[in-house]
Amino acid sequence: MTLVDGTTATPTKKLGDVLEIRGGRPLRGQVDVKGAKNLATKAMVASLLGSTPSTLRDVPEIRDVEVVRSLLEVHGVAVTEGDEAGSLVLDPAGAASAGFEEIDAHAGSSRIPILFCGPLLHLLGQAFIPDLGGCRIGDRPIDFHLDALRNFGAVVDKQPNGIRLSAPDGLHGANIELPYPSVGATEQVLLTAVKAKGVTELRNAAIEPEIMDLIGVLQKMGAIISYEPNRVIFIEGVDELRGYDHRSLFDRNEAASWACAALVTDGEIFVKGARQYEMLTFLNVFRKAGGDFDITDDGITFRRGETPLKPVKVETDVHPGFMTDWQQPLIVALTQANGESVVHETVYENRLGFTAALNKMGADIVVHENGLDGDYRRVPRRPLEQAAVITGPTPLHGADIVVPDLRGGYAYVIAALAADGTSRVSNVGIIRRGYEKFFEKLSDLGADFDVVG
Ligand code: EPU
Repeated sequence: MTLVDGTTATPTKKLGDVLEIRGGRPLRGQVDVKGAKNLATKAMVASLLGSTPSTLRDVPEIRDVEVVRSLLEVHGVAVTEGDEAGSLVLDPAGAASAGFEEIDAHAGSSRIPILFCGPLLHLLGQAFIPDLGGCRIGDRPIDFHLDALRNFGAVVDKQPNGIRLSAPDGLHGANIELPYPSVGATEQVLLTAVKAKGVTELRNAAIEPEIMDLIGVLQKMGAIISYEPNRVIFIEGVDELRGYDHRSLFDRNEAASWACAALVTDGEIFVKGARQYEMLTFLNVFRKAGGDFDITDDGITFRRGETPLKPVKVETDVHPGFMTDWQQPLIVALTQANGESVVHETVYENRLGFTAALNKMGADIVVHENGLDGDYRRVPRRPLEQAAVITGPTPLHGADIVVPDLRGGYAYVIAALAADGTSRVSNVGIIRRGYEKFFEKLSDLGADFDVVG
């Protein structure tokens, strides 16, 4: 299937994939956000490192969690419901190697399997990682991961359908400097170094709150991890780790998504479970764009403070910058701002393609594939940036659109909810990879839609 941005997608065909959305109603009410997709899945992998069962709480009911759950089960980890709703107990006592077909059958749609390398090498002395899936938002290579694993002493054998790893002499501590503060590669190093022999020094590490929460999980397991300013993390390897009991950090990407939904539909949404600290950067931009919010111990209420909204200049960046996962719903809101907004995407090389469908709905967005000169860039980190110039306000009208990826897909749904008329949004199954109870939450907020396919 060819998407409006010229790329192709293979839609997953099952009920719940096509929504007919009648726009124009403000979203009002409460949504609860649970554990972060980008922490819970990694904490689940960490359970492989323990000698006793782990309990993870506030696990979101999303497809990425199901994928990791079945991958763990394929490797002999017993996964059962815990003592409270939304908790999982992960028992690695029966962990064993899995066959290629089994791993491949479960891993197809996710990038998480790459994080199984270190734990499986420690546990079994070998690992097989099939070709990786995940959202189509750029090349998404794994060279940092493989280089780091080689530094620990792993032997990496690239095969036609995946990568076979072994560690004939065990894994030892390493000095590693990442070319870029990659979230996944930092997690790879943490999950490998905690049981490697000796000390690991990781420079230019990612320091996202989800990484800090994973460090918390590993410390509970018995790991010794410290960090210094300037993105340096030290890990002293230990011989044995035990299981953990941990409540996952909330999903700040989901919280930011609902905040933008309130902004663009001129509604008001209380996001229960959202916290200020992890969202400081988002909240600043939200306020500058004309949003308003109240923060309590239980969550954050988001609404529009000004009409029309105000244009902003934003560049995505690693933490503590503005997350790449926040720009898509924000761009939808910026179509209703009075003037010219600029969003620079500096983390991925192909994460503005979704805007073509917004233009089809009446937006005025011009994407500059090689970025824009000017004073917008706080940190000129990478050569691959793109920029979107959004001129508003432009009324949005309904259209037939096909979801390209997780965050772009969410952006399409809120664009359709803000638009005049009816939209048909297909391939929405992808959105449920990362947003739990998505249809239920939309209904609770008063969205007018039907599942038609
Ligand atoms: N990169 C490389 N080589 C590598 C690894 C990364 O060049 O070996 C590049 C990537 O191509 C990208 C940049 O480094 O240009 C950053 O990638 P990073 O490794 O930080 O991303 P990731 O770990 O694959 C996680 C989240 C993403 C989120 C990014 C950035 C998970 C499962 N995914 O991806 O989340 O956008 O960090 O914060 O944790 C999403 O939730 O929709 C999503 C895509």
